[in-house]
Amino acid sequence: MSGNIIGERFTVVTFGESHGKCVGVVVDGCPAGLEISEEDIQHDLDLRKPGQSIVTTLRKETDSVEIMSGVFKGFTTGAPIMMLVRNEDKDSRSYDLIMDTPRPGHADLVARQKYGGFNDYRGGGRFSGRITASFVMAGAIAKKLLKETLGIEIVAYALEIGGIRAENFTIDDARKNRYQNEVRAPQPEVAERMKTKVIETREKGDSLGGIVECVALNVPVGLGEPVFASLDSDIARITLSIPAVKGIEFGSGFSSATATGKQNNDEYLYKDGRVVTKTNNSGGILGGLSNGMPIQYRTVFKPASSIASKQTTVSLSQSKEVELVVPGRHDPTVVPRAVPVLESTTAIVLADHAIRAGLIPPVLKTQGD
Ligand SMILES: Cc1cc2nc3c(=O)[nH]c(=O)nc-3n(C[C@H](O)[C@H](O)[C@H](O)COP(=O)(O)O)c2cc1C
Repeated sequence: MSGNIIGERFTVVTFGESHGKCVGVVVDGCPAGLEISEEDIQHDLDLRKPGQSIVTTLRKETDSVEIMSGVFKGFTTGAPIMMLVRNEDKDSRSYDLIMDTPRPGHADLVARQKYGGFNDYRGGGRFSGRITASFVMAGAIAKKLLKETLGIEIVAYALEIGGIRAENFTIDDARKNRYQNEVRAPQPEVAERMKTKVIETREKGDSLGGIVECVALNVPVGLGEPVFASLDSDIARITLSIPAVKGIEFGSGFSSATATGKQNNDEYLYKDGRVVTKTNNSGGILGGLSNGMPIQYRTVFKPASSIASKQTTVSLSQSKEVELVVPGRHDPTVVPRAVPVLESTTAIVLADHAIRAGLIPPVLKTQGD
């Protein structure tokens, strides 16, 4: 496995398995002088952690972060920042069974085939949604760096779960409401309907997919390094690295296939002496560069594969087909827990590109300033 690092100047290396000792991250390239505490990181981790509500897995992890290096007297030092959370509530008993009878829709079989059975398969190992705790730890630093240096704010929310979609809301609604309800929807009444559907589906032994929308505000013009490190390709790469993500679209996205140029072009105008666009069908990115409008994209999550209904799989030891009811505690939809993950991954990419563009200096302030 050599694919666990991302970023050019703000680099993130993730490590750890679902039922191993810990999951963690090393962030290198964070400027010195950013005030950061375990409470800052914990705040974001708490938004993602399992066992919080009836619409997530019942696995209960405290996900208490420990900053092991790179922060001194409450400020980043410029050295690599290593952070981890220990795995506490792990029940690995069912995973020997799953190793023999792999879960349809999960990575059990293909991982065993690739790594010759040496992979830590407990709890899905490196293929567990738990690895996204590392993304959130790194993202918490990136978010704070972006906010304090450039005033960038990132807001993600559950746009759709199981076909129930939020409509007619503003970014202020999303900012205010998303973390006030269990499904992370931008409107309380939609949240109730989504929640009911998740509970009903879980009771039937099934799971649901959905869409998370992410918006980044106050992003300066010119982030992105075309062509292979264009801003949209880098956002897409990190987004598609989140387990269960099956697609991403920016701005008008797939619907632009049926629009005309006149409908899809974002016309320019002046607002307060600044060039802006009337609409934002580009999703804030043109030519792989941020254009100063909000960056806006949507991400599709498939339904979680570990369901309590009977499915056909194979017994590898007996070389025959068998029936499987997946044991263990699983998310009936991954969407609510993915919302803070998307905010984090977006922040990681924007921090990397802002540093590359020279908009964030290597030292934020000098001691004694
Ligand atoms: C936050 C989060 C939580 C997840 N929880 C579960 C879960 O409880 N059960 C499950 O089967 N999959 C869960 N997943 C998805 C699997 O990790 C993912 O489907 C699996 O690794 C296979 O990868 P793929 O779907 O990207 O092909 C979760 C994903 C995320 C992002």
